[in-house]
Formats: sequence, C-alpha cells, structure tokens
Amino acid sequence: MSALSNRYTELVGIEYPIVQEGLGPFTTAKIAAAVSQAGGLGTISMPGMPEDLSEGMRTLRSHIEQCAELTDKPFAVNLPVGVDHDGTVLPFTDTYIRGVLEARKSDAALEKQLTVLTTSAGFPGEYCGMIKDAGLIHQHKVGSTHQARKSEDAGVDVVIAAGFEMGGHAPASRMHTFVLVPNITESISVPVLLTGGARDGRGLAAALALGAEGVALGTRFIVSEENEDWHPHYLQAILDAAEGDDVAFTGVYGPCRGLRNEASRSLLESDVRGDVDEAEKIRSMQRAQSTGDTENGLVLAGQVAASIHEVIRISEFVPQMADEAAAVIEQLAGSLQKQLPGRVRA
Ligand SMILES: Cc1cc2nc3c(=O)[nH]c(=O)nc-3n(C[C@H](O)[C@H](O)[C@H](O)COP(=O)(O)O)c2cc1C
Repeated sequence: MSALSNRYTELVGIEYPIVQEGLGPFTTAKIAAAVSQAGGLGTISMPGMPEDLSEGMRTLRSHIEQCAELTDKPFAVNLPVGVDHDGTVLPFTDTYIRGVLEARKSDAALEKQLTVLTTSAGFPGEYCGMIKDAGLIHQHKVGSTHQARKSEDAGVDVVIAAGFEMGGHAPASRMHTFVLVPNITESISVPVLLTGGARDGRGLAAALALGAEGVALGTRFIVSEENEDWHPHYLQAILDAAEGDDVAFTGVYGPCRGLRNEASRSLLESDVRGDVDEAEKIRSMQRAQSTGDTENGLVLAGQVAASIHEVIRISEFVPQMADEAAAVIEQLAGSLQKQLPGRVRA
C-alpha cells in the first residue's frame, strides 16, 4: 500500500497508479518489466502487423516471456483494435487477442502475471466478453466521453482517457486531457486513467484532481536508462525537442503525433496529394527507432517531449513520481488550511 493506493491500484495489484502504456510497433519488454518492478504497471506493446501473423504472434509471445523473466510483478499487453471501413475487425487484432489468451491459458505462471489487456484504437466489441471470460482485467483507451460510456456498457474494467497532446496514436476527437478527463470521470463509474502529457508527480496529482485514478505515460519512459528498444538518436531527438516541435499527421489508426522532421513533412504532403503509402508508415517508424535516422523516419512522441530534459532510471523514477504527487497534494491541502482561518476572520 502507498499513500496513493486507490481502486485502480487495488484492482490491478500494484503499488503506484503509474502505468507505462503501449508503445508499438516496438517491443518494450525491458521497459515494461522495469515499470512493473518499480511498483507501477508496465505494458508489452504490439510488434507491428507483419504479413505472417503467426510470426508476429511468436514475436509478441517472446516479448511477453522476456518481461515475465525480468519481473515477478503484474504487467499488461496493449493490442490496438484494427477495424476496416465497415467496422469489421481486422485479422491482426483477432490473431493477437486470441494468441495472448491462449498463451496465458497454456502457462500458469504467465496467467498470474499477465493480468491486464489494454485495447486501443477501434472498439473491442465482441472481444470484451472473451477478455473478461479469460479472467483478464480489460482496459480500453478512448478519446471521447461517448466512447468511454460505450466501453463501460460493454463491461470494460478501466477506461484510459486519451488527450490529443499524447504521443503516437491520438484521438480523432482531438480533445485535450484537461477537458476530456473530467468529462469522462463524471460520466462513468469504473476507474479512469489519464494518458497524454504526464511526466512527473505534478501531472499525477493533477490527474487525480480531475477525477482520474492514475496516469498512463508513453514518451517519458522512452527516455530512460532501461530503454533497449529505441536508438540513442531517437532519445536525443526527444531531449532536443522544444515547444512546437511536434505535429499530428495521419497515422495507422487515425491521427498520430510525432516530431516535425523530413518524414512527417513528406507524409503530410502525401496526405494532401492522396498518395500515402500505408505500409511505409510503419517501416518509417521502425527506421527511426532502429537505425536512429530521426530525419527520414517518423519519430512518434507527445507534446511532452518539449518538457523532457533528462534520461531517467525507471526504478527510481516511478516511486519518486508517486512521492512527488503525494507531496503536491499534501502541500496544497496544507496551504488551504492555513488560508481558511484568515478568510473567516476577514
Ligand atoms: C512511440 C510511441 C508509440 C505508441 N504506440 C502505441 C500503441 O501501439 N498503442 C497504443 O494504444 N498507444 C500507443 N502510443 C500511445 C501511448 O500508449 C500513450 O498513450 C501516450 O504515449 C501517452 O502520451 P505521452 O506520450 O504524452 O505520455 C504510442 C506512443 C508513443 C510515443
């Protein structure tokens, strides 16, 4: 138990309401294990959409197993839901969701640790029942109050409210966290996490003030000592980013946020011309990540990149972030108590 224990930490069985959310199409086994080991909840990400989905599932499973070897704490898997124009769920989603459920079923140790499945992008529909029946806690990431209500009605256990400032896939509604999160927390009763723009204890305290029960970070955790997924140039591009250096472009499932560079400029131009090469988008993201070509590859990152100035050690960062949030709340409550008697006297 920590000072910040709440419904969410109890549901998921973690110490601090701090989550590292999915960072596909990259792997994140080591980052996820570090966040879980530090008392938060780490997440294994979806490894892209290869033509051979069995191969993709083998890759995903190996990342899950790697994470389980590095920590004995609970962790999650993020699987974006791909849907085509008529709302039909795409084969990669079906393969990955069923594959994860089977992997857990066949391994009792994994079943104990891989306890959370986070869906994002499209609506998980029929998979909600399947995820629940398998005994997993189901989190779903949404960009509007309408989607939050629909998720709760479908039996989702935790809603992640995604603001437009976030890195990677951003909500089509273009709602920012400060408006969206309280709209959602006053509309549904399951726990809500804020995702987008959080980077320290002040962000966590603010999220709690908005009615959320935790935060889900992306960009902040990339720039860490535990990172093994992203090339050092990628981390440097985030460290060098200033306000206004990010831009939203059309990603794989809708709007996507990354840093301004040759790749994002050329994608925006292709978008206007209508000749975007969809497969090239994922290759471009992977190019920036693996070769460090942060000019010709898409560098997914949130607006918060402008506020990231140091490489963190996750093992220290997570408890410090929780301590800072508790201190901020305590300090605000303390200053309020000091002012109240004065106001009464006046
Ligand atoms: C490099 C990168 C890749 C991402 N990939 C995914 C993904 O595969 N699935 C998903 O639901 N969200 C994805 N996101 C969004 C994150 O899970 C998280 O919600 C977001 O980063 C939060 O905003 P922040 O970057 O301001 O912390 C990605 C974000 C980044 C920066």
